[in-house]
Amino acid sequence: MAQPITEWVNVTSDISIVARESGEVWFHAAGGTKEGINPFATPMTGVGAMGSTIRLLDGAINLGFAGIEKRLARPDPTVVGYVVALVAAYHTSVDTPRNLQRAASRFNELGRPEVAAYLEERAREETGHDRLALKDLRALGLPGERLVANFIPEGIKPLCKRFDDLCVQDYPIGCIGYSYCLERIAALKQEADIEKVQALCPDGADATRFLRSHSSLGSEVTHVEETIAFVASLPASDRIKIVQETYESALIMAAGYNRELLKSEAEMLEEVQQALGEPLPYRPGSYLLRGEKRGARPAA
Ligand SMILES: [Fe+2]
Ligand SMILES: [Fe+2]
Repeated sequence: MAQPITEWVNVTSDISIVARESGEVWFHAAGGTKEGINPFATPMTGVGAMGSTIRLLDGAINLGFAGIEKRLARPDPTVVGYVVALVAAYHTSVDTPRNLQRAASRFNELGRPEVAAYLEERAREETGHDRLALKDLRALGLPGERLVANFIPEGIKPLCKRFDDLCVQDYPIGCIGYSYCLERIAALKQEADIEKVQALCPDGADATRFLRSHSSLGSEVTHVEETIAFVASLPASDRIKIVQETYESALIMAAGYNRELLKSEAEMLEEVQQALGEPLPYRPGSYLLRGEKRGARPAA
């Protein structure tokens, strides 16, 4: 009988994620074995399997997010927090098709047409997602184009830069890890999360197009499933780089969340109004200007 597949990836100087096809997954500390022998010190070379690859990828996200402040993990949404999240969603989407196309061209040059084809398909699927965020901002009564032109939330900048940098590398396989991280987190959003946001929006405003499509209700679930199957089919050296980048992207994303979510509603409102050069079109005393609640998690 064939041996069940075990995959492992070293993500920090002393932590490896180890996963079995059967579903077991654990973090292995390099110094944590008897007699100092680390069976995972040598990079894996075998084939992948869906059952183990998904656990490596999700293990990388969990490890990257281990440092996020727990109280911030699922804050109650506020309208202004949601506006900031939509601006962030725009900036993390607007360059995605172009960046993925660029990485695809590089893989064609490298003689890896299967990676190029996967990235080209993803570029097609992601086209127009920035426009969903703009439409949502408009549905909230905001001049979306002007707002995004003048405002990139500080916590989102390093994430956008990371993706730009990954896609122009000589061997840009890491962009798959970055995309997986964002899409996997988006796909965790449930109908109840969307309803909470919808309840904050003005009556009749359809301002959750981006959120719906980047949630468990939209295309993200399929994107995530397709990515796992594709990554599992790749050689070990590629799977290692993708899992390592999933971890790095999760760290950057978690740091961004910490930074954005620690802002008070008043601080976020100030930032949005500065970018617009005018007060938000809501009446004083409405939900927007009420109290100092924490903001919504930026939409991925
Ligand atoms: Fe998207
Ligand atoms: Fe997607």
